[in-house]
Amino acid sequence: MPDNSLYGLVRPLLFSLDAESAHNLTLPALRRAAALGLTKLIAKPADDPRTVMGIRFANPVGLAAGLDKDGAYIDGLAALGFGFIEIGTVTPRAQPGNPKPRIFRLPAAHAVINRMGFNNGGVDAFVTNVQASRFYQSKQGVLGLNIGKNLDTPIERAADDYLYCLEKVYPYASYVTVNISSPNTKNLRQLQGASELDALLSQLKEAQLRLADQHKRYVPLTLKIAPDIDTEQIKNIADALLRHKIDGVIATNTTISRDAVTGLQHAEETGGLSGAPVFEASNRVVRGLKAELGDALPIIGVGGILSGSNAKAKVQAGAALVQLYSGLIYRGPALVKECADALR
Ligand SMILES: Cc1cc2nc3c(=O)[nH]c(=O)nc-3n(C[C@H](O)[C@H](O)[C@H](O)COP(=O)(O)O)c2cc1C
Repeated sequence: MPDNSLYGLVRPLLFSLDAESAHNLTLPALRRAAALGLTKLIAKPADDPRTVMGIRFANPVGLAAGLDKDGAYIDGLAALGFGFIEIGTVTPRAQPGNPKPRIFRLPAAHAVINRMGFNNGGVDAFVTNVQASRFYQSKQGVLGLNIGKNLDTPIERAADDYLYCLEKVYPYASYVTVNISSPNTKNLRQLQGASELDALLSQLKEAQLRLADQHKRYVPLTLKIAPDIDTEQIKNIADALLRHKIDGVIATNTTISRDAVTGLQHAEETGGLSGAPVFEASNRVVRGLKAELGDALPIIGVGGILSGSNAKAKVQAGAALVQLYSGLIYRGPALVKECADALR
């Protein structure tokens, strides 16, 4: 069926550009459109409030991390009707990320491969951007701040980077996400291992409690994990989350598997695969976590949501909230309302 939406008209133009140029064109345009009030023309979801981790979300559909790594476009993104916005991943110091090209579309599979490598302007610039946004100033919306480690910090000292970022972003966050699941920072996923995770989470929990006391506000911590883990790893991670009283888990990041896209152009590019091919793998992790965690802590489900029915399946698998990224590239902002409507 032809897509007669505005995004349906714009998409061929964006897809005629390489993926990062399209990204770099869209976000400033969205910011201008929001400043001019044009985003009011986009149909927004009706309120469907949920309280998760003690936070009230206006609706259960959020923006996943990575689209706005520096928090430079918060107000434009907020105008699309999300129930929450997660920005980052940010690292202590600015870093350029990997050489371009580093994002690839696989349209036949409704998929994306990226190896951005945490390109960002560092946590100080990030906090300045957050403070400057009307979204933050109004205190009306839910803002997740996603933190990581610099490429050149040795993996044995990873905790230092997370603790440094946590300290800096804590006062401005509705919740903080600890991202240990990007495939594009060497050895990062090792932090999902039992002893590494134990050490990391115990230090983060201690810092969280100290910061809660200092700022007189408890900010929930979530852990973002990969889809490329087996049942035993899911169980170990769930145990660690419970033991350290972490507040939530985000499942999942991108996959390093290429099983679902073999033979397609760009399928062999290094990086994380997202979009439709990660849907089942992410759902498997969400289901596994739900079986271990029950209602002890909430799961935010992300990976391959390209329709309202995908969002519903994510919730049926055990997610309390969902997030979108690649689906926005293929479906445009109408996907936000479609998912929120499906979950109401
Ligand atoms: C270009 C791109 C960059 C991303 N950058 C980040 C990031 O910086 N931090 C993070 O936690 N996840 C990042 N992600 C992962 C997404 O947040 C999401 O977990 C993943 O893409 C699966 O969801 P999707 O299939 O809806 O895209 C990135 C994804 C893409 C496509």
